[in-house]
Amino acid sequence: MTAAPAPPTSVSALKNDRFLRALRRESVDRTPVWLMRQAGRYLPEYRATRAAAGSFLAMAKNPELACEVTLQPLRRFPLDAAILFSDILTVPDAMGLGLYFVEGEGPKFERPVRSAADIARLAVPDMETELRYVMDAVRTIRRELDNTVPLIGFSGSPWTLACYMIEGGGSDNYSKVKSLALNEPAAMHRLLEVVTDAVIAYLNAQRLAGAQALQVFDTWGGVLSPAMYREFSLRYLNRIAQELPRGDGDNSAPLILFGKGNGAYLEELAASGAEGVGVDWTVELGDAARRTGGRVAIQGNLDPVTLYAQPEAIRREVGRALDSYAAGNGGSREGHVFNLGHGMSPDMSPDHVAALVAAVHELSAR
Ligand code: CP3
Repeated sequence: MTAAPAPPTSVSALKNDRFLRALRRESVDRTPVWLMRQAGRYLPEYRATRAAAGSFLAMAKNPELACEVTLQPLRRFPLDAAILFSDILTVPDAMGLGLYFVEGEGPKFERPVRSAADIARLAVPDMETELRYVMDAVRTIRRELDNTVPLIGFSGSPWTLACYMIEGGGSDNYSKVKSLALNEPAAMHRLLEVVTDAVIAYLNAQRLAGAQALQVFDTWGGVLSPAMYREFSLRYLNRIAQELPRGDGDNSAPLILFGKGNGAYLEELAASGAEGVGVDWTVELGDAARRTGGRVAIQGNLDPVTLYAQPEAIRREVGRALDSYAAGNGGSREGHVFNLGHGMSPDMSPDHVAALVAAVHELSAR
């Protein structure tokens, strides 16, 4: 496989720049919309590509196939951004933990982090060798998108990656990772420091390969008490927001901090230096807009389960979310990126996604 050449990046040449304009809180003709996990098993064409590739990881590690599944939802729906098809667990995999998937059980690591000695061995992987397949996917997708919509790159948050690295997979109560944080906070901070260094290098490499916005998924920040959230998650989100270069001109990429269960911390997240904050559906969007006072763009936040309801109900809930945001933002829809409050599920209907995207664009037309 040959790496695609660096794309001729020109933000000004983007045919649809609503998403990037909204992140800068500039005026747009309609509220932009993209959906977390917009590429995935709910699309029959995704299931076909995955079956031909043999597995999720084979697909994610092949830049052409990763590009193909990235583009699939954009062929069906007028989404305002593409998101790199990959996974947050590529980084710990490249750190030597051995990522694999068990059908129906989700991600697992062959060599989870269990001791101070394991932590001492962790190092930042090289982005253009060990994670080359991700950067090649970004370059290939940028070439194929041909400046139609911007491409979002992403990473897990340090805390969320630590959860998988220490638990060795998904978890019901996060007992191992929380015990390490409570029993050996210095060791936990050493792990979070090196993972944060890796996240910053990973996001920066994606930007240099052509990603035009970057999102950090703090999926499990919300399982922490407030004191532990501030110590073990927010501290490292702040480091990323402060230290990650955003570039300039054609190579620039704003940063969005998404967190499930982050509603109690919106003022602090808005003060982090990130350009956008993503929220789940337990937050009233108008409150989010009021509490962050124009310091950041707000992304969200329809309950993903709304997609199981009928199109009329989806449309009504989309309208409610749009209007809630505007009510808290001085009557203006500016600075809002529409999304779900978390990712899509495999048994959702593509027709209902079409209804959602159409409702966002129609009900927000200026
Ligand atoms: O949004 C997109 O379309 C981009 C692709 C994307 C994937 N994973 C593809 C994927 C993104 C942004 C992720 C991030 C990710 N991965 C997160 C953070 C986002 C979130 O949902 O909170 C997390 C926690 C993971 C870890 C992970 N990877 C899980 C829990 C799973 C699901 C396992 C399962 O069986 O459903 C994965 C695998 C995965 N990543 C799939 C997809 C489409 C399903 C793979 C398949 O079976 O085809």
